Amino acid sequence: MTRTHVPVLAGELIELTQPAAGENVVDCTFGAGGHARLMADRIGPGGTLVCIDRDPAAQERFEEMAAEVSCETRFMRMEYSEALELLHEERFEADLVYLDLGISSMQVDARERGFSYSYDAPLDMRMDPERRLDARQIVNGWEERRLAQVFRRYGEDPNARIIAREIVRRRHRAPLETTAQLVDAVEAALPAAIRRRFGGSHPAKRIFQAIRIAVNDELEALDRALPAAWAILREDGRLAAVSFHSLEARRVKRFLAERARGCICPPDMPVCGCGRTPEAELLTRRAVAPSPGEVADNPRARSGQLRVALRIAEGGA
Ligand SMILES: C[S@@+](CC[C@H](N)C(=O)[O-])C[C@H]1O[C@@H](n2cnc3c(N)ncnc32)[C@H](O)[C@@H]1O
Repeated sequence: MTRTHVPVLAGELIELTQPAAGENVVDCTFGAGGHARLMADRIGPGGTLVCIDRDPAAQERFEEMAAEVSCETRFMRMEYSEALELLHEERFEADLVYLDLGISSMQVDARERGFSYSYDAPLDMRMDPERRLDARQIVNGWEERRLAQVFRRYGEDPNARIIAREIVRRRHRAPLETTAQLVDAVEAALPAAIRRRFGGSHPAKRIFQAIRIAVNDELEALDRALPAAWAILREDGRLAAVSFHSLEARRVKRFLAERARGCICPPDMPVCGCGRTPEAELLTRRAVAPSPGEVADNPRARSGQLRVALRIAEGGA
């Protein structure tokens, strides 16, 4: 049975973003709606909760939630950066926008969707099943150099080249169709001495992460979404993101730090020539991590990092 998704850093998200009665909140990654329900309770009957997700399974969960909460609700089944741009065109003004990145437990546990190296399933990994590109096409169609690049960039896997080579060698004989065949190829590519170095971690973990990011265009979507989210925030609005690996974390951190930065003139300039003033105040100087108790209850929370910033009037810091 598919378990539900346990929201990560939920208490901390509420504590730091302080959703209040009557506010407009945008949940960019609805999933099973764990965070959204908490927000709905806070904003109450006068508030509006816009929920975005590109997975139709999330839309089913949304219908259940919408029937049970008192605030106004809306679902947008699309890529979050597109939804945010649409909201901008509609002149929607948000008090709070948040993203809880990555995939949900519902997606990982739906074996047939091929997200997990632990279950044998067709190579798919699409969050949006209508998307054309899937994992099978990448594994069997992308040239060796491009595969290695994806494994290195998105999986930060030091063995990217030898794994890509083994996949290409195998697919010359017959296309790789399943997650088990991919796991087998990864394991075969690595000499026993290297495999032992993985300790508790599965050697295919980084490769699955890399392919999933490529299939779903995750990093580019995040790069488009952060400025789009910022653009719909009111003054005093909050932007929050929970990330799960360094590639996401770095993007969120850099984006927020740039907004919080004022003058960028060289230190030896006697007067400011750039005229830049901060647009953000960082509410988390360092990323907030889940407590040991949360990780014990929900090991999938382990790598979560929460960052939050407040939109301030330019020149207000
Ligand atoms: C970690 S889960 C969110 C879980 C949710 N906060 C909860 O409490 O149940 C991430 C969700 O974001 C969705 N998602 C990821 N990237 C997306 C994108 N670019 N556009 C729209 N939805 C996306 C996934 O389909 C998934 O359902």
